[in-house]
Amino acid sequence: MSQQLTIVEHPLVQHKLTLMRDKGTPTAVFRQLLREITQLLLYEITRELPMTRKPIETPLEEMDALTLAGKKLALVSILRAGNGMLDGALELIPSARVGFVGLYRDEETLQPVQYYFKVPESLENRLVIAVDPMLATGNSSAAAVSLLKEAGATDIRFLCLLASPEGVARMKETHPDVQIVTAALDRGLNEKGYIMPGLGDAGDRMFGTK
Ligand code: URA
Repeated sequence: MSQQLTIVEHPLVQHKLTLMRDKGTPTAVFRQLLREITQLLLYEITRELPMTRKPIETPLEEMDALTLAGKKLALVSILRAGNGMLDGALELIPSARVGFVGLYRDEETLQPVQYYFKVPESLENRLVIAVDPMLATGNSSAAAVSLLKEAGATDIRFLCLLASPEGVARMKETHPDVQIVTAALDRGLNEKGYIMPGLGDAGDRMFGTK
């Protein structure tokens, strides 16, 4: 992928996203839609995975059939909302290794602080797909990517449901090498850091909290 931001404008993605944005959509439906959209976005992000051929026998004859070349994958959930995307991603790529990054915002410095970090070994040999539904200010996403790089990752992609121009700019300036794949680029952030028009707090909507 050459450009850094990919917006997946597929009709199924956009239709499901509209349902997710609607405040009347119940928690269980919201969660299911997030799983489904994640899989459609993953289809896009993995489009250029290296392939190889292996000999197999169909019921009719032998052939050299296409198969994934074995690039190892790691899915990394940025807690807590990333977990809603992780489920769908693992259904599609069940053999992926899984990591978790937990960050909270220090109320005084407003900077992200790490409270949990657990990732698979040999990150340097893997395609690392970090998942977080909302790329809002970009501060925690950029910090999470920095932590993944410190842990050895060199090939990182960032998968989100909604992005703001501010979040994309922040990622571009800190991690220009990281491809971002999203379903939509919204107007911008409000004074509380919510993406507008957005869908509200993704974690609250998927877990039924307030
Ligand atoms: N996180 C969310 O869950 N929603 C936003 O709009 C911004 C950050």
